[in-house]
Amino acid sequence: MKIDLILGLQWGDEGKGKIVDVLTKDYDIIARFQGGPNAGHTLEFDGIKHVLHTIPSGIFHDNKLNIIGNGVVIDPVIFQNEIEKLDELKVDLNDKLLISRKAHLILPTHRLIDKASELSKGKKKIGSTLKGIGPTYMDKTGRNGLRVGDLELDGWDEKFEALTNKHLNIINNFNVDIEFNIDELKREFQASLNFLKKITFIDSEHYLNESINSGKKILAEGAQGSLLDIDFGTYPYVTSSNTTSAGACTGLGIAPNKINEVFGIFKAYTTRVGSGPFPTELHDAISQRMAKIGNEFGATTGRPRRCGWLDLVSLKHSISVNGVTELIMMKGDVLSGIEKIKVCTKYNYKGKNLDYLPFSILEENMTPIYEKLEGWEEDITKVRTYEDLPLNFKNYIHFLEDHLKLKIKIISVGPDRKQTILV
Ligand code: IMP
Repeated sequence: MKIDLILGLQWGDEGKGKIVDVLTKDYDIIARFQGGPNAGHTLEFDGIKHVLHTIPSGIFHDNKLNIIGNGVVIDPVIFQNEIEKLDELKVDLNDKLLISRKAHLILPTHRLIDKASELSKGKKKIGSTLKGIGPTYMDKTGRNGLRVGDLELDGWDEKFEALTNKHLNIINNFNVDIEFNIDELKREFQASLNFLKKITFIDSEHYLNESINSGKKILAEGAQGSLLDIDFGTYPYVTSSNTTSAGACTGLGIAPNKINEVFGIFKAYTTRVGSGPFPTELHDAISQRMAKIGNEFGATTGRPRRCGWLDLVSLKHSISVNGVTELIMMKGDVLSGIEKIKVCTKYNYKGKNLDYLPFSILEENMTPIYEKLEGWEEDITKVRTYEDLPLNFKNYIHFLEDHLKLKIKIISVGPDRKQTILV
């Protein structure tokens, strides 16, 4: 038995939460491997809309294990909040949620450093979700971090105080104006740690490899998207982890030869939240329409998402660095009613046509080259079979498959679990 991955191929918000939830029935374990509460995975079913931040999207199913892997960073305060919301929905968490001892903890001061760093950057800010993700990963690679397993060892208080004091000096050095009450933040954090300790901590790499050996089926759920990958994304406007398939190996302790299918998920158009280059971005009635019909507001921060046409150059880049084996297309319904749909197939980069992602995709270096396709009028949100989709929608799918050289195996036509067409 092997492990399958599901990854976002754009700048996040592709709809991974919904699809993981749809696919969960075929797996025994759902595991998160990177990122933290910067993620917002939205699931809708039975008239309920729910956003998960740290907890894997398999949590609403019975008899499925959900594992937060070593590559994830956890904010105990946000985590407690998330669990309490699940309690309200009467989700039984007993024995369904396990946390890696090697996962790093986001301290309240990590959040403050994030804020101070963004403020100090002015116009060049990353547009971070301000959840302390970058500073926590910095402490991880700087070998200063505190991990979930440290809570079970002696000396926690000293380690926590030492790191907090170090952070307070760093914040001071930024020389920006941010208000906080450190004693209050510490109290809140301590209370949430007591809550966290009620969850079972495991040596997750051992647990997962044993599970694979005993024939269990595992789905690794990515967060953010490939274009936000710390190495292969639009650096420096990226997140601080490897969101691509290699991140699943390091973030779970799974060897590359254990990876089976890699499901790549993308929207029928493109969105981005936060700063950074976005070649196919629109500032017109079409992008307003995408934002409105697609409800393009950040699930974590509520910020409006920037919208634009589908970009096949960056999509090909994501497919190749991830080794995608199957494609999943989301939100095709949002494009209904647009007369002509454009798709970017090449970039004009400093006078030359390129079909791969170059070092810099800043506006001054390149312009997108588009092909135009006929749109469709029909509302497709109630369509449940491929055959019933409008001809021009099917033409759009074929056009993408021809360019991407992969089949689109799942088409989503709305936010609900039921609005999913398996091809
Ligand atoms: P950070 O990871 O919070 O530091 O944010 C870095 C960049 O990644 C910003 O542009 C964020 O808007 C973006 N980002 C982080 N998490 C997500 C996500 O789950 N969806 C979309 N964008 C994200």
